[in-house]
Amino acid sequence: MHFSILLASLASILISICGAAPSVSLVSNTQLDANGVFFVSYDGVVNVNSFQLSGVLTYSGWQYAAWYTSTRYAILARRQLPSGAWSTLQLPHQLSTNDSHNVIALGVSPADGKIHVAMDCHSTQLYYTSSEANLATSGASWVASRFGSITTTLGNLNIGTVVTYPQFVVTPDNLLQFVYRSGVSGNGATQLAEYKSGSWANVGSWASASGTYTSTNGVTSTARNLYIHGFTYRANRVHITGTWREQAGGVSCSSGGLTNHDTTYFYSDDKGRTWKNSAGASIGTSGSSPVNVNTAGIIVDSLNADHGLMNQESQAVDSAGQIHAIISYVPGRFTQCVTNYESDRTSYARPFHVYRSSNGTFTKVEIPFAISSVGRSQIVMDNSDNAYVVLPYVRIVTASKSSGWADWTLAYDGQAQGLNAFGEVTVDRARVSSGVLSILYQLKSTGTTPSAVKVIDFNLNG
Ligand SMILES: *[C@@H]1O[C@H](CO)[C@@H](O)[C@H](O)[C@H]1NC(C)=O
Ligand SMILES: *[C@@H]1O[C@H](CO)[C@@H](O)[C@H](O)[C@H]1NC(C)=O
Repeated sequence: MHFSILLASLASILISICGAAPSVSLVSNTQLDANGVFFVSYDGVVNVNSFQLSGVLTYSGWQYAAWYTSTRYAILARRQLPSGAWSTLQLPHQLSTNDSHNVIALGVSPADGKIHVAMDCHSTQLYYTSSEANLATSGASWVASRFGSITTTLGNLNIGTVVTYPQFVVTPDNLLQFVYRSGVSGNGATQLAEYKSGSWANVGSWASASGTYTSTNGVTSTARNLYIHGFTYRANRVHITGTWREQAGGVSCSSGGLTNHDTTYFYSDDKGRTWKNSAGASIGTSGSSPVNVNTAGIIVDSLNADHGLMNQESQAVDSAGQIHAIISYVPGRFTQCVTNYESDRTSYARPFHVYRSSNGTFTKVEIPFAISSVGRSQIVMDNSDNAYVVLPYVRIVTASKSSGWADWTLAYDGQAQGLNAFGEVTVDRARVSSGVLSILYQLKSTGTTPSAVKVIDFNLNG
């Protein structure tokens, strides 16, 4: 063996013994639709938002994806994993308005194998449908007639006409839950409903608009909403991180900023009925006594409303049951007052990894890659608790658990690879435990010219 090759082999053996940031390897990149609907609103596109749970979803060996096509109809696709071809069906519903928040969310109720679809709302009524029983497991033909008619209720449950951010999650005992916001930005409540024995029931509000917040510049705000980074079960606990969005614009140093402040954490061990802070103190009961901005012991990273802190980024929980969130904002070394959150975030914002240790301490580490976008990032963790963060434009940065999540490395650069992704992406959280990261993205376009919707798959640390 040539001496330099020998040295290189020794080096790679040493790296694998001592640990290195995990890699990703491209498996496939498939096109769902050449002509997805395209328009930019709130800095985003409607088919791909960070807060979409779930725009792409794996269940029982099948993967589902949803988007609006250029005729504005909602399309559902399905493929058999690992490499089956996509089939599509068109639901009898068209996107009602050019608002990028009106995403499509998918869920499966394990007890009856129904596929649930919630969509097209932003402080408006919801549109909802669910499939015939066992469609998620039977492999029956993929046709729209297997779905019920579109309702503006959550099946049997009336959840009002001011609904936003529909998300489906599955509890440890296999019930489907529905998380959403009632009310509006700056004056809203997070809500929970649950699907059991074929019907939906309200659990109640678990974080409210009430309380008083006084900013560092002395302005008081009396209403807000909690924007969540996720609603994530691990074992019997559901973990929530989030940020408050104040109603009073004056809490920010500039009207061009964002009134988001602080990162909060709390959890529930009874599927969202009662809540505890990181120290284990009881802090709220859904319905009767929701968490609010004055709840004690929920801020785990303090930040005033002057830094363009983003809402609704992402979170994951590791195998030890510890929360990991990605937040992003403009660090103080660039400015102490964000005056235009869109341009300042694009120029200066950095992602931060905020995570809890088992002794209750939270650590925040700046990930040394700029966001270069207004938009949000996604974190997932593999079965060995390595971290993978998908930055806008499908740039994947990783850090190993063995380094204490300190060795952040660019593992895949979708920009350099010419993917031409719009920016923000959404990921298949249910597939990650099988060692594959599936990312739904849409191509950059201009005006209202449709563009392709794609799913790109990577093997994690393979
Ligand atoms: C908590 O654990 C972290 C990580 O192991 C450690 O860095 C920190 O010093 C600990 N804090 C306390 C108060 O023990
Ligand atoms: C909404 O987007 C469509 C393209 O999907 C475009 O044709 C239409 O003009 C847009 N409407 C408004 C009000 O911008």
